[in-house]
Amino acid sequence: MNNFELYNPTKLVFGKGTVGRLGELVKPFGTRVLLVYGGGSIKRTGLYDQVLSQLSGIGVTVRELSGIEPNPRLSSVHKGVEICRKENIDFILPVGGGSVIDAAKAIAAGAKYDGDAWDFCTGKAQIEDALPLGTVLTLAATGSEMNGNAVISNWEEKLKRGLGSKLVYPKFSILDPELTFTVPRDQTVNGIVDIMSHVFEQYFSRTTDIPLQERFAESVLQTVIENGEKAIENGSDYEARANLLLSGTYALNGTLPNGVVTDWATHGIEHEVSAIYDIPHGAGLAIIFPNWMKYVYQERVERFVQYAVRVWNVDPAGKSDDEIALAGIQATRDYFTRIGAPATLGELNIGGDQLDRMAEEAVRYGAIGSFKKLEKADVKRILELSL
Ligand code: NZQ
Ligand code: ZN
Repeated sequence: MNNFELYNPTKLVFGKGTVGRLGELVKPFGTRVLLVYGGGSIKRTGLYDQVLSQLSGIGVTVRELSGIEPNPRLSSVHKGVEICRKENIDFILPVGGGSVIDAAKAIAAGAKYDGDAWDFCTGKAQIEDALPLGTVLTLAATGSEMNGNAVISNWEEKLKRGLGSKLVYPKFSILDPELTFTVPRDQTVNGIVDIMSHVFEQYFSRTTDIPLQERFAESVLQTVIENGEKAIENGSDYEARANLLLSGTYALNGTLPNGVVTDWATHGIEHEVSAIYDIPHGAGLAIIFPNWMKYVYQERVERFVQYAVRVWNVDPAGKSDDEIALAGIQATRDYFTRIGAPATLGELNIGGDQLDRMAEEAVRYGAIGSFKKLEKADVKRILELSL
């Protein structure tokens, strides 16, 4: 196990009716609040009214930024930064999925910076200050509710890049499983795939002697596999939604990578696809991840054998290591297909004409991944396998 530091200051407020705690949670952070939300789901579900009533209960002034896109755009971040400056905002309150929360994080940092918030995504500037933010999460997927990361799309340049800082961890996140009852089937599926992919990025590692981290990861995977199917079958199954929601948070809140060298190549590749084609992140991952697995598993076959046996209950009797590993990878693909995720880029009408550009961008700072270091040709091959 390698040395590590664990830091997570986000207060999680989890369970039924917890939106009723919002006023009390926002109150210490000032009197001028920017409410950030997406394309209107929170209005349709009635959550918007509940949030406003909580905020009016503590007498704060509310400004709004709506219309945050899935794959949130830099142009929306700019709008938010402008409102924060003009209206002297004290606190940012994203209410929605990962896209809304990510946009809010970039706005929080951008509001305290003289240049363009995009600089945090290109590495031109580091975040040195940020407005505080707190979230109300409505979709189990990204883990953004309890981490310091955000991913922003620069649509004009067709680039999608991340930023990360201790300063943009949410001060609190409200997670009420009932708020996720209305998530449509396809977004539930995308969320399941994203959560599982976050675990894969940290589990398929070359680090040895980490039994606790491995079992944490396998537990998250098994919980998601079981409860994901239940949530798809019945969107109002409270226990299924609750377990999925908590799994999403644990998959990317800093618990799994303790002392582990993680990979993240597949996320890098997917971000290049969604930068150009604006597809849902989870759909891109469902297509690419099993192909990455097939491409790299021989680097450390025993890790894939363990995955197959422990997570998918593959019976190892009479099989070679390669056969067991491949059976686990096939079980992953079969599960994604069973829940309704796409298996090829072609299903999303994406052809092969941009493969070079995507592969080039994915390795712009050098080879990616650690389980197997991927050069441009490797990335291109994985994308070709995904067509
Ligand atoms: O915009 P609204 O109307 O709210 O609708 C959203 C959106 O259309 C809808 N939705 C959300 N909650 C709902 C709901 N519809 C009905 N009922 C509800 N309760 O779902 C759609 C997708 O929402 P979005 O926020 O885009 O989904 P997700 O949470 O999957 O976020 C995806 C973004 O997060 C990034 C992805 O790249 C992508 O840009 N990621 C962020 C990470 C992070 N910050 O740590 C890590 C991830 O790996 C990921 O890259
Ligand atoms: Zn992801």
